[in-house]
Parts: sequence; C-alpha cells; structure tokens
Amino acid sequence: MIAIYPGSFDPLTDGHLNIIQRAARFFHELIVAVGYNPRKRTMFSVEDRVRIIRAATAHIPNVRVESFTGELLVNYARRRGAQVIVKGLRNVDDFRNEFQQYNMNSRLAPGLETLFFLADSEELFVSSSLVREMIVQNSRDYTLFVPVEIETLLAEESGSSEKAGRS
Ligand code: PNS
Repeated sequence: MIAIYPGSFDPLTDGHLNIIQRAARFFHELIVAVGYNPRKRTMFSVEDRVRIIRAATAHIPNVRVESFTGELLVNYARRRGAQVIVKGLRNVDDFRNEFQQYNMNSRLAPGLETLFFLADSEELFVSSSLVREMIVQNSRDYTLFVPVEIETLLAEESGSSEKAGRS
C-alpha cells in the first residue's frame, strides 16, 4: 500500500521526522510530498525543502520525497496510486484545520483514507513557524528542533553569500 504524507515542511522539523519514521513502518511506500499552501508564504524554496527531507530520510528505504505544486492533493494522490494520506496532529488547532481538509478531501476522493498520527510528547510544541522565527532572529536555538540537514544548508547558503559579497 502507498501512503502520502503531504505538508509545507517549511522547514522539516523533528516532529515531522518522527511522524515519517512511525508511518513508514505501515506502508510499502511512504511518499513525503512537499505541497503548496496558498495561505502560507514560505522561507525555503520547494527544491531546498525536498533536498532537506531527502537527506534527513535517506536511512528509511521505503520513503520517497517529491513535490506537488499546482495540483490538488487528491489528484496527486490518484496519480501516484496512493490509498492513504498521513497527517500529524499536535493540538486542537491542528485538528480544526485537518478536520476541514479531511472532509473536503473525502468529498473529492471518497476512496482515499486519511490516517492521523498523534505527535509524541517531545514534539508537541515543535512548529515550523517558530523554527522560522528563530532563524530570522539569528538564534541557533532552532537546531534543537530540526534535523541537522537544515543547519548544513543554511551554513552553505551563508558561506556562498559571503563569497559573493567578497568578489
Ligand atoms: O503543512 P501544511 O501547510 O498544513 O500543508 C498543507 C498542504 C500542502 C498539505 C495543503 O495545503 C494541501 O493539500 N495543498 C494542496 C492543494 C489542495 O489540495 N488543497 C485543498 C485541501 S482541502
């Protein structure tokens, strides 16, 4: 069975990674799909978000990472032959949002099931938006909440912008 774990992943957090690790055990293939949420402006490009997730999940053989922009999740899921959508839930705000998306998606694609994984207590308060705030404030504390690949990418970027500044 193929499942899709969609999200903005701007950027991937330890909370997302925890859901990926737990969900991957139940499916032949788990596709982590970087999608476009028109209600959110992103900090990381789609390419960088995909690259980060690929590196952070390289040790899980049945995880594939892709992006799907410019199409509805249900159509992308159909194209990929997925029967299940995986989502993570931390709190009632997530629930409210996911409840609405679930109902819309199941009207659009009745056979497509959504399975929810509750966040582990360690990751209950981790969010991409707070991580972005820490990055904007130049606080290294964000590294407590994300896989190391994000630090690597940001270090590469600041290295190349320093080089560009010098030349
Ligand atoms: O991490 P997010 O921002 O909650 O992820 C939301 C995402 C990308 C999964 C959602 O916005 C989505 O499915 N976008 C694709 C477009 C779509 O199908 N929209 C209708 C959802 S009911």
